[in-house]
Amino acid sequence: MKKLFLFITVLMIPALRPAVAQKEADPVVNQLVVVANNPGPVICKDIYGHFSEHLGACIYGGIWVGKGSDIPNTDGIRNDVLFALRELQIPNLRWPGGCFADTYHWKDGIGPQHKRASIVNTHWGGVTEDNSFGTHEFMRLTELLGCEAYINGNVGSGTVQEMAEWVEYLTSDSDSPMTRLRKEYGREDPWKVRYFAIGNENWGCGGNMTDEYYASVMRRFSTYLNNYGENMLYRVACGPYDYNFAWTETLMKDEATRGRFQGLSIHYYSLVDGWNNKGSATGFGEREWFRTLSANLQMDPIIKGHKAIMDRYDPLKIKGLVVDEWGNWFDVEPATNPGFLYQQNTLRDALSAAVHLNIFNVHADRVKVANLAQTVNVLQSVILTRDDKMILTPTYHVFRMFRVHQDARLLSTDLRCEEYTFEGNSIPAISASASADIRGRVNISLANLNPGKEISLACPVIGETFSSVTGEILTSDAINSHNTFSEPEKVKPEPFSDFRYKDGVLTVRLPSKSVVVLELSK
Ligand code: AHR
Repeated sequence: MKKLFLFITVLMIPALRPAVAQKEADPVVNQLVVVANNPGPVICKDIYGHFSEHLGACIYGGIWVGKGSDIPNTDGIRNDVLFALRELQIPNLRWPGGCFADTYHWKDGIGPQHKRASIVNTHWGGVTEDNSFGTHEFMRLTELLGCEAYINGNVGSGTVQEMAEWVEYLTSDSDSPMTRLRKEYGREDPWKVRYFAIGNENWGCGGNMTDEYYASVMRRFSTYLNNYGENMLYRVACGPYDYNFAWTETLMKDEATRGRFQGLSIHYYSLVDGWNNKGSATGFGEREWFRTLSANLQMDPIIKGHKAIMDRYDPLKIKGLVVDEWGNWFDVEPATNPGFLYQQNTLRDALSAAVHLNIFNVHADRVKVANLAQTVNVLQSVILTRDDKMILTPTYHVFRMFRVHQDARLLSTDLRCEEYTFEGNSIPAISASASADIRGRVNISLANLNPGKEISLACPVIGETFSSVTGEILTSDAINSHNTFSEPEKVKPEPFSDFRYKDGVLTVRLPSKSVVVLELSK
């Protein structure tokens, strides 16, 4: 219906007819029609969420340095990282895993630091975990960031009682053993917890369960996850990976109209040549560039497939799709612990982030939460740290540029663009999405995936006129440009003005391998 509306609108506007006709005659005309006067669903800000696991130097060293550290900190949380994350307006943070979540026993991480149990982090490097970062520290972090807490409970090796007590400890105001314990450990008032996941990857590291088995287990756990006071949990059931549609079918069929979960998770990582050949994060050529972006674009059919199943069982779209792990997964940096998943981050990752975020925006009717893996020092991080130093990655800058879409309303767009072809395979050369915020500003986010060609794009913006346009660009000279501790600003956003706005049409010259965000205001 929306497509039809868009098509008719395009044909009815005389200024656009020549462009459409030209398109038919010349297949390489690049055009993005933006319908500005008919906003669609809200792009839930939680699509711009992050994920921090007890893995490598994400928590320890990356976020948590402890109160006695020489690194400037607030209650043990490093200030430089805190300020950088605040700048992103991160809406929610997922913790403590990942695979770690299904080995995590939350009571190990409360109470006086010196009395906390040390455990071995069996999933990630076999290192000793002293539990100095636990529930109170995580909740303090979310308070300092002003973001929602997304806690992932332990189904794989935990009990129903343990999970139920965690929710009670966190959110209840009544007098009970759990709330007394919380008060004894220094927190009088309950916290607010929005998102709570019932296990992680329970088809794999979270217990190697079948879909039917997990559906039953999840029902049981969910029954005891209570809403206390005004805290309303958004329960997230473990969903599938990639194209595993059978898992979604089973979960949705079992759930039907019941309210056992409000969101269904899905994980998708982009790989260059499969799990055994992930390739270097920095030493790569155009083949790997192309294959990475092709893999990133798979997020669209993956979401469409799961959406179609959810639409059958939940046509009113009450339940959300929660893409709570996504990103590029490359080989670890040379001479680093293979269990720590530490990888550099280049301009390629910036393009990847833009492609994903545009896809999530476009599916805002169903995708309600998404979490990049992971926040600091792990996989496609937004921040890298070394001792007391911190750098922002190209991925960070894309999240900063795209934050304008948070809680804005999706605008219908129609993109016709040339292809970017490499060694006989093709992908669309442009990725795009657009939204309107509550102040009537329209933001258009674009990426030119072709590393060797500037592209001129015509954007007829229908239904509204604007008096000013501003822009920002992220690009660099090489496809593998990245920031280092000695050159931290090699890749950073710059003002962008290579556009023209005339008679309602915005014409933009997108440099090769670039991400551009344009703001149109009245
Ligand atoms: O993000 C790293 C790991 O990838 C997570 O722990 C797990 O959920 C996924 O397989």
